[in-house]
Amino acid sequence: MDTKWKQIDQYAQQWVKEAGKRIQETFQTELTIQTKSDRKDLVTNVDRETEQFFIEKIRSTFPDHHVLGEEGFGDELSTLDGIVWIIDPIDGTMNFIHQQRNFAISIGIFENGVGMLGYIYDVVHDELYYAKKGEGAFLNDKQLPRLQPVSIRESIISVNATWITENKHIDPNVLAPLVKEARGTRSYGSAALEMAYIAAGRLDAYITMRLSPWDFAGGLVIVEEAGGIVTNLYGEPLNLLGKNSVFVSKPGLHEEILQKYIHH
Ligand code: IPD
Ligand code: CA
Ligand code: CA
Repeated sequence: MDTKWKQIDQYAQQWVKEAGKRIQETFQTELTIQTKSDRKDLVTNVDRETEQFFIEKIRSTFPDHHVLGEEGFGDELSTLDGIVWIIDPIDGTMNFIHQQRNFAISIGIFENGVGMLGYIYDVVHDELYYAKKGEGAFLNDKQLPRLQPVSIRESIISVNATWITENKHIDPNVLAPLVKEARGTRSYGSAALEMAYIAAGRLDAYITMRLSPWDFAGGLVIVEEAGGIVTNLYGEPLNLLGKNSVFVSKPGLHEEILQKYIHH
């Protein structure tokens, strides 16, 4: 990485840790909880304050960078030109509210659409997953080993029960046989953590039908640097400016699942 990117990385890591500390401190305070599009779509004052924290830091330090943030305090972007930070201040807000764990800060930093830096910070466990383009993926300064192929029969797949029951986005009969063939399934309620767990080898694949760019931006950079594959459910590249189905997997397994279970 050149000096410019080293500097961006240093600031990003420092801000992520500082934001995590602030989130920890709010466990002592009472949350203001609101719903957004429906009763399952939640936001708290902490989500908003955390996004504002990052945006103030980025605007004062890197005034020419752009920011796409879930809570809407960033810029309205129609292109990925230049340097763009894609931020989810708290991914797993429902877990944050109900469990005080299993949530993360997620950030991906892109230059002209190319992922350069990725961060997923599991605040409660103090685990920072991050990646720098061309330098690999790390968990708290330890490099993550490159992901190796695995077969469906030996895999743990992260999939929410929503997609195996009646829903608006996929016929439940598509993924049900995959769930049956896999060794096991899990669901953690934070797309960012599920992607981080793939990079760390704790999960083998993650499938979900509808995510926004801030849910997967950090994970995209981290998983790819660990040697994993990130596409939509049909094997196509993700659109960083819109909603996508998301299919994250170890190599080998990605091809096997696409061939066996996913038909256009
Ligand atoms: C949500 C989480 C969840 C996923 C949802 C996302 P949020 O993000 O990543 O795992 O299933 O689609 O919206 O709202 O907690 O930032
Ligand atoms: Ca999210
Ligand atoms: Ca969020």
